Amino acid sequence: MEATTSLLDAAAVGDLVLLDPLTEESLLQTLQERFRRSDIYTYIGNVVISVNPYRSLPIYTPETVQEYRNCNFFAVKPHIYAIADDAYRSLRDRDRDQCILITGESGAGKTEASKLVMSYVAAVCSKGEEVDKVKEQLLQSNPVLEAFGNAKTIRNDNSSRFGKYMDVEFDFKGEPLGGVISNYLLEKSRIVRHVKGERNFHIFYQLLAGGSAQLLQQLKLRQDCRHYGYLNRESSGLPGVDDAANFRAMQDAMKVIGFSPAEVTALLEVTAVVLKLGNVQLSSSYQASGMEASSIAEPQELQEICELIRLDPTILERALCSRTVKARDEMVLTTLSVPQGYYGRDALAKNIYSRLFDWLVNRINTSIQVKPGKQRKVMGVLDIYGFEIFQDNSFEQFIINYCNEKLQQIFILMTLKEEQEEYVREGIQWTPVEFFDNSIICNLIENSKCGILAMLDEECLRPGVVNEDTFLTKLNQLFATHKHYESKETQNARRVMDTSLPSQCFRIHHYAGKVTYNVTGFIEKNNDLLFRDLSQAMWASRHELLRSLFPEGDPQKVSLKLPPTAGFQFKASVATLMKNLYSKNPNYIRCIKPNETKTGMLFTPELVLAQIRYLGLMENVRVRRAGYAFRQLYDSFLQRYKMLSPRTWPHWTGSHREGTEVLLADLAFPPEELAFGHTKIFIRSPRTLFDLERRRQERVAELATLIQKTFRGWRCRTQYQLMRKSQILISAWFRGHLQKNRYKQMKRSALIIQAYARGWKVRRTYRRYFRSEASTRLANFIYRRLVQKFLVGLARNLPPLSVMDRTWPPAPYKFLADANQELRSIFYRWKCKKYREQLTPQRRALLQTKLHASELFKDKKALYSKSLQQPFQGEYLGLTQNPKYQRLHAVAKDKLVMADTVRKVNKANGKTVPRLLLLTTEHLVLADPKAAQPKTVLSLSDISSISVTRFSDGFLALHLKETSTGGAKGDFLLVSDHLIELVTRLHQTLMDATAQALPLHISDQFSTRLQKGAMAITVVESAKAGTNIPVCKKRGSHKMEILVQ
Ligand SMILES: Nc1ncnc2c1ncn2[C@@H]1O[C@H](COP(=O)(O)OP(=O)(O)OP(=O)(O)O)[C@@H](O)[C@H]1O
Ligand SMILES: [Mg+2]
Repeated sequence: MEATTSLLDAAAVGDLVLLDPLTEESLLQTLQERFRRSDIYTYIGNVVISVNPYRSLPIYTPETVQEYRNCNFFAVKPHIYAIADDAYRSLRDRDRDQCILITGESGAGKTEASKLVMSYVAAVCSKGEEVDKVKEQLLQSNPVLEAFGNAKTIRNDNSSRFGKYMDVEFDFKGEPLGGVISNYLLEKSRIVRHVKGERNFHIFYQLLAGGSAQLLQQLKLRQDCRHYGYLNRESSGLPGVDDAANFRAMQDAMKVIGFSPAEVTALLEVTAVVLKLGNVQLSSSYQASGMEASSIAEPQELQEICELIRLDPTILERALCSRTVKARDEMVLTTLSVPQGYYGRDALAKNIYSRLFDWLVNRINTSIQVKPGKQRKVMGVLDIYGFEIFQDNSFEQFIINYCNEKLQQIFILMTLKEEQEEYVREGIQWTPVEFFDNSIICNLIENSKCGILAMLDEECLRPGVVNEDTFLTKLNQLFATHKHYESKETQNARRVMDTSLPSQCFRIHHYAGKVTYNVTGFIEKNNDLLFRDLSQAMWASRHELLRSLFPEGDPQKVSLKLPPTAGFQFKASVATLMKNLYSKNPNYIRCIKPNETKTGMLFTPELVLAQIRYLGLMENVRVRRAGYAFRQLYDSFLQRYKMLSPRTWPHWTGSHREGTEVLLADLAFPPEELAFGHTKIFIRSPRTLFDLERRRQERVAELATLIQKTFRGWRCRTQYQLMRKSQILISAWFRGHLQKNRYKQMKRSALIIQAYARGWKVRRTYRRYFRSEASTRLANFIYRRLVQKFLVGLARNLPPLSVMDRTWPPAPYKFLADANQELRSIFYRWKCKKYREQLTPQRRALLQTKLHASELFKDKKALYSKSLQQPFQGEYLGLTQNPKYQRLHAVAKDKLVMADTVRKVNKANGKTVPRLLLLTTEHLVLADPKAAQPKTVLSLSDISSISVTRFSDGFLALHLKETSTGGAKGDFLLVSDHLIELVTRLHQTLMDATAQALPLHISDQFSTRLQKGAMAITVVESAKAGTNIPVCKKRGSHKMEILVQ
């Protein structure tokens, strides 16, 4: 709504068709006012005028793209995106091929506009891996072409020095498939010469600034721009431009497009060759014939070039310094003067570069071209150099301006055609409009019989002396009376005095202004000849790319036919372009340059006015509103103005056209102001439209008040209702809550009463029964609880598992004392069992022996308590280890129970002698310690009993059976250090063997048998005896006292 208002804003209308009054001043003022408001885009119908802001504006964001996507052209602010969207939708939805023609002078913003259009289309068409790749390739062609085809000029830091037309091809869904780029007339003279303040093509500076040291070395280049003649030997960095970064971007772009590394290298090599050619210096010398000749002054550069292109230096040297001429069927080699040599060198550089540029475009096309066979729709974007008027205009300007003239022609014709077609389509009567038709100028230049270009070609092909003078004379004759042609001669004939027109020049009154062309160089540039020797030299190089650029250098294909002239070629390509454009639906973007100084947001009215004139904007507006200034589809018109009639507001149920008729009838506009087409309403004057708009605004204000009023009433009402509802709800809840609480309390009270009553009843019924049972139950319960507590406590605090430990917690209650005692003994037995289970058989046997000892001696002999600490070793002699005892060992064999040293008491005198004692399972052996020989061997069955004292001595009497063989000498009296062990083991062994207990006497008196008779032994306590060594004293022949302690 706001945007449409801006379209109709009387002070700065967005569509100049609505300008009222329509004058040059008002048009200029409108553009200026809009520019001041940063509205750089303005419409004339569906043509967009774009004024270069020279600063970045925040109007190209992704959000803006979304805003313009599928927008209504008139419903949003004028924008380049709107025209791009309109074109794209028309292509996609109505299957109409489109072309976008961008015109304007150098620096007006054409290239930027073309990029904006492309990026918009790329943003709105669908996405997908393949589609994105195509889009990226199409967009990335720009940095590559700009690097090679753009240069800084006085007017524009990034001026396109070639014309570009790009056809982007889409499939039926509107997805981009690829494209084709055509290029027109690269300004190649810039390669060898450019004026101060300008630069050569960007690529040279980018390569030197951005190429790595290795790359530069490979290309045999130096980083310093001042080294190169073609770069005017000056370093020319541009403020705000990073050549190195641009070089990297260009390389990346090439990668995206699909250039192979080898292709990039070859491309840069050829570029380096061009740059280096400018440094090839010639010097003059005189031949013997006296003719001036040229030679290479410094062979180094030539040498390097030849290394780069893999060519024999002498071939190139000869081609640069001499020329083969055909003279009477003979080929003659003539030398060249230094200026001729330089001419040849420069021509070569220009040719290499321009052919390289053509190759580059073709190479990009190979990558982006669409496979044949697919049905496609096309959107062409034309970004061609703008109309140029310089102080000194040459052949290039002539060609460029001719092209612009043709574009203007197509613009006028197509705008008119379209306008006419629209009236016919809508069934409205067409009133012819007067406008300036520039076909007369086009004809002046391109007429194939007598146009300027045809004349130039004729001069170029004519044998004999050819120069620009004859060419100019011919023009003067032919166009002596032409309205758009002027020269000194024609002026003189018309008696016009004009000092601004020199004699070597002619002037054409272009649609955009008068331009004076200097004919010098016209013929040479039109011929665009390169000495055959040079093209042959290039063909001879072994550099694939360079060689392919000069196919005519192949000696096999020498043709005597002259190549078509530059003018002829250009005319032909312009004709093809025009044909191409005519077949498409045109969309125009007309760029305007607001100042000469590239200053941001500065508007120089005089400069803009000149462009308004030569762009023919006034005519454009006039043509556009020749009949009716404004037109709109019925539905959008009705939608916008339906509030102006009570019959159409708020809803009209009939057709849109009827609705519009009813509406306009109610508004009572004069009938001649309106025309009803088939689909659109046409309004003749902007005033009517403004009137309509004013009424609408008033009505909108009224409606707004109405809506406001209704809304406020509605809001208050609903708020009141809401409050009331809330109040009712709150009180309902509150009351409910109160009642619920009361009910709960009553219920609780009833329950308590009920419980009491029931309790009372139950107690009364069961009182007796309950009391008789209760005490036992309670007691049982308590007992059970106590027992449980006791057992659980016990389980938690069991005493240690050591068998020596006999602690046990006391019973907490008396009634548990027996059980506790029982548990204690069970626990102890269990502990012992566990202990026994883990005993080894040896240990078990030992313990059994110990047990046996206790049974025999406990509380009977004092020595016993001392023996408790001594382990029973059994083997005290070390029979196995000591070789001395080998024989004894053999006697004992495996049956050994004990081996020890004992003392044998002599029964005759009571003295003792040492003996070795061996106890086996069958025998008791006494041996002499020295000889280690058995002296006495007693069978165990011969032993009848044993006597020992009560004291802690080691004395023992071994009573033998009288009948036995060993017993003949009487009993044995022995003293042993291990008496307890010895007696126990003897007792045990005998028990095991005979299952009979050996009688053991422990007393203070006993009798022992001698060989003959018996001897009474009395045990006497005496201090004379050792602790456990008894002293035996013989008292008479049949008495012995044993002194013990
Ligand atoms: N829409 C824009 N917003 C901001 N700056 C712009 C815009 N259009 C153009 N410019 C500025 O103007 C400069 C010149 O624009 P551009 O190169 O498009 O001119 P051109 O018409 O293509 O000129 P030439 O005919 O010399 O190629 C740009 O480098 C940019 O700085
Ligand atoms: Mg440009």
